[in-house]
Order: sequence, then structure tokens, then C-alpha cells
Amino acid sequence: MSETHIQIDNVNAYYSGHPALKNISVKIPKKQITAIIGPSGCGKSTLLKCMNRLIDLTDGITYSGKILIDNEDIFDRKTDIINIRKKMGLLAQKPTPLPMSIYENIAYGPRIHGIKKKADLDTIVEKYLTLVGLWEEVKDRLNSPASQLSVGQQQRLCLARGLAVEPEIILCDEPTSALDPISSQHIEQQLLKLKNEYTIVIVTHNIHQAMRLADYVIHLYLGEMVEHGPADEVFENPKDERTRAYINGTFLADVKIDKVIDTKGNQCPYNFVYAKQALHSLEKGQTLKMIVDDPTAVTEVPRGMEADGHVVLSVKQKNITDWEIVIKKKG
Ligand SMILES: Nc1ncnc2c1ncn2[C@@H]1O[C@H](COP(=O)(O)OP(=O)(O)OP(=O)(O)O)[C@@H](O)[C@H]1O
Ligand SMILES: [Mg+2]
Repeated sequence: MSETHIQIDNVNAYYSGHPALKNISVKIPKKQITAIIGPSGCGKSTLLKCMNRLIDLTDGITYSGKILIDNEDIFDRKTDIINIRKKMGLLAQKPTPLPMSIYENIAYGPRIHGIKKKADLDTIVEKYLTLVGLWEEVKDRLNSPASQLSVGQQQRLCLARGLAVEPEIILCDEPTSALDPISSQHIEQQLLKLKNEYTIVIVTHNIHQAMRLADYVIHLYLGEMVEHGPADEVFENPKDERTRAYINGTFLADVKIDKVIDTKGNQCPYNFVYAKQALHSLEKGQTLKMIVDDPTAVTEVPRGMEADGHVVLSVKQKNITDWEIVIKKKG
């Protein structure tokens, strides 16, 4: 494995006391693409947000452990987080261009960092728009509002904007999930080119995208890292049964729900008892979706179900009060 760029040591994170990440320790190599995969709600975005401490903006969050970037612990309160964030570009799920022209979207960051001369800014704008494959498409309308671009073009613009401040690390959270297939392909091609110069961490629930892009893979499952390794090894011969199941396509998007129960208004352990009864009425391998609004159930029901040998496929918050737990009956 090449030189480590981001070292994650024993990281735990809790939302209002509910665990979202459990004892994650992993080394992310320099100038490689690392994909974080796993079913919805498993903690992928949480882990990514820990890496630039954007997690601090979430109400009720607590976290512990260490994340070392270039040997600085970014969780240490003494570390200058603004400085750390300068090393990182973030590409979000949906493109978020600034409400200004195409040109200004790219020039904005470098200008803040002290580059004032128009000629220098022109060079930067052309360089980064070219790098993301957008220059030819927009060079005649640089002063038009960025909002007039197609969604796929906006996403490439956001990538260019992130790169223009010369980060070392690019963090992407489902960067193509809002894009059409052609635009997604464009972004993927750019990421593959960029990995020669940047350390890239990409969250994706698209296993095929991870196969196309990743050098290393982290598989999260209910907040735990159940597998990590070189992509070819993980995809060809996963060590963990849950990774094998995920890769083979038995993940939530494809799962047929056989029964739904709504246990809202019930506390633990009653909701657990209802889930057990519901599973009893199902065949082996069938799935139960249960809806709960008791915060304790969110951790206790999956724990109890797993202790009974069932497989918890996902735990996901649906709205401010309700959570959905999908359980596959052992078989
Ligand atoms: N702001 C929040 N407040 C409370 N719980 C949260 C919050 N954000 C996330 N969670 C919960 O923490 C767990 C991990 O969430 P996270 O967003 O990291 O998952 P994810 O793997 O990125 O899922 P997805 O694929 O749906 O984006 C989930 O159970 C989620 O419901
Ligand atoms: Mg997410």
C-alpha cells in the first residue's frame, strides 16, 4: 500500500447518543481512490464528514478517536481546522454552484486566497475548467450565471471550483447520484484522471461505480467497518459474508419487502416482541420492514435481531420521529 494520507484511529460517532460509527480504524493511501460503500444509513456520509470536521455542524453529534492528516490530528481542538479544510475539496451529492457567473465560481476561491491579477485568474479559470472537461463547453459564456448550466455541467463546475484552491484531498459524497448516465461518466473520468495528483475518497452506494473507480474499498455496515482492502481483492474475494452479499446485489435497493409493521407509540422491548412475532410469521430469507419512533429501538432492535441470527439490512431515519429497520429472517 502506498503512503498513508489520512489515518483514522478508533473513531466513534453518535447522533444524540445513537452510534453511527463504531471503532473505525483505517489508513487511506495518498493519490489513490478509496471508495466507501455500504447500504443506506450505514455511516458513509458520517465518516466522510468526520474527515473535514463538517460533522461539527450537526446538532447532537459527539465523536471520539483520532484522524491524522499529514500527521496532524484534526479532532484535536488545537488544530487549525480552517487550514486543514484548505487541503480538501468537497464534491456533494447535488451540485451547489455559487449564485454568480461561471467565471466567478472558479475565481472566487483563488481570489480569497490572495490572487488578484485578472490575467492570473483567467489562467486559473481556464486551467481548472479544462481539467474537468468543461472549458470547450463554456468558454464562450464565462460571464453567464452558473445556474444556467445543465446539472451535469454544474457538477463539473463544482469539481473545478474545489480544485481551483489547490487541495490535496478530494472528498466526494455520492457525487453522481443526481446526474444522468452521461454526466456521471464525465465525472468518473475526471476522478480517474485526478487520482494521479490527489487523494480521493468517494462515498457511493453504486457498487459498479466503486468497481470502476476504486483502488481501495471500505465496506461499512451498521456503523462498523466490516471489510477493507485493495478493490480487486474485496470485489473478487470478499472476506466478510456481508460484503459478499452486498456485492452480489442483495442490498436494500433490490430487496423485496415481504411484511411491514408499524410499531410507533411502543417502547422497547414491546417493539422488539412485535418484530419477533412478525418474523415468526415469515419464511426463511423473507424480509420485514418495521417502523419505530422509540429512539432506544433504533439500536436495541437491530442488536437483538442480530443476536437471534437474523440479518439487519438497514436502519434509516425517515423523518424527524420515524425510523425504518429492515430485517431479513435467518435461513
Ligand atoms: N443529523 C442526524 N441526526 C440524527 N441521526 C442522523 C443524522 N445524520 C445521520 N443520522 C443517522 O446516522 C446513521 C448514519 O447516517 P449516514 O448519513 O452517515 O449514512 P449513509 O451511509 O451516508 O446513508 P445514505 O446512503 O442513505 O446516504 C443513520 O442511521 C442516520 O439515520
Ligand atoms: Mg450518505
